[in-house]
Amino acid sequence: VHLPADHPLVDGRTSTSPLVRALRGDRPATTPVWFMRQAGRSLPEYREVRQGVGMIESCLMPHLAAEITLQPVRRHRVDAAIFFSDIVVPLRLAGVDVDIKAGVGPVMDRPYRTADDVARLVERGLTEEALAPITDAVRRTVAGLDELSGARAPSGAREPDNSPEGSTTPLIGFGGAPFTLAAYLVEGRPSRDHLAARTLMHADPETWARLTAWTADLTGAFLRAQVLAGASAVQLFDSWAGSLSLADYQAHVAPSSMRALTHVADLRVPGSDTGVPGIHFGTGTAHLLPAMRNVLTNAGITHPTVGVDYRTPLDEAAAAVGRMPLQGNVDPALLGAPWPVLEAHVRDVVARGAGAPGHVVNLGHGVPPDTDPTVLTRVVELVHSL
Ligand code: CP3
Repeated sequence: VHLPADHPLVDGRTSTSPLVRALRGDRPATTPVWFMRQAGRSLPEYREVRQGVGMIESCLMPHLAAEITLQPVRRHRVDAAIFFSDIVVPLRLAGVDVDIKAGVGPVMDRPYRTADDVARLVERGLTEEALAPITDAVRRTVAGLDELSGARAPSGAREPDNSPEGSTTPLIGFGGAPFTLAAYLVEGRPSRDHLAARTLMHADPETWARLTAWTADLTGAFLRAQVLAGASAVQLFDSWAGSLSLADYQAHVAPSSMRALTHVADLRVPGSDTGVPGIHFGTGTAHLLPAMRNVLTNAGITHPTVGVDYRTPLDEAAAAVGRMPLQGNVDPALLGAPWPVLEAHVRDVVARGAGAPGHVVNLGHGVPPDTDPTVLTRVVELVHSL
């Protein structure tokens, strides 16, 4: 299936950006950098526009979601925007009663963990109509990124496909991996060890498989809508995969993660074998990195990148995954350390990433809410100067 002719990867707006080049295994002149959770509570401008608006509600207001997505690009000059939304938004769009409680995270009306619960869930799906607020927000965001980068005149007229490097900042679309989503559903709320989910996969593997095939298709539809509306890459967040043994991951999780990614793996730049770059990230996943790499490649992602948390040095990660670009892995804790300490750490991360065919600098998990945003801007400037 071809990406639309006016897609940023097709018409050249993002295809030579540092981010897309690094995700394709190239070494652009400046190493790209962005931050997971760069849009959010660390920014005063975010707290201001979110006043009186619930988290999920803000995700479903296209002008607001687009504005929040653009805020960190404007402020920090990061090399990518990440779409402001949440991994549980597709659940809400499919009619599941889920809310996001401040300081807690996603909370369901109740746990979904019996065969009956799951049988009722899987009757629900995502229509194009339900996804309209997402499509609308992504379109607004990409238009806003064009404007910020000056790549497209306000009239919509632009030069043909001869864009200089980094003409438009790419938007990364994202979704929650089927396991992490299922963990929230089965527990009904955030949990430490995801015990109920890990019990279910063994106690009733059929119900587990049905549930995770469904969460895979929801996330897949969410990802595909973002790409078709203009996202230039996708990231699959399997935040809680680190709680699994390798054997459980292979048997009960990898197949559904692959299934989620197949929803975007068929999309191609016309006249080429070039698909949409895909990043797969989890925390506590040192023992899973090769398996996560295989999920990307087995799904048919033509340009796969493994996201690495702060626990595994990038040179070790590179040795584990083989020749594949890496994303990571500045320790978020060091954002609160004195600048010389943070600077030395960022330099070390960039040096250790040099062995991978491409490197996208990021944190090893999300921006802590109390981070001083001027520190993030300084990290961007440092990475660009190296
Ligand atoms: O800037 C970005 O990274 C883009 C937006 C984004 C959010 N959530 C916004 C958000 C992304 C990519 C996510 C993904 C997400 N959501 C994950 C995977 C990444 C990770 O952190 O591991 C997970 C596990 C969730 C579920 C979730 N949503 C949690 C655990 C929380 C935090 C709860 C809290 O208040 O501490 C949320 C809420 C959430 N999602 C916020 C934001 C900006 C904070 C809500 C607020 O501002 O009130």
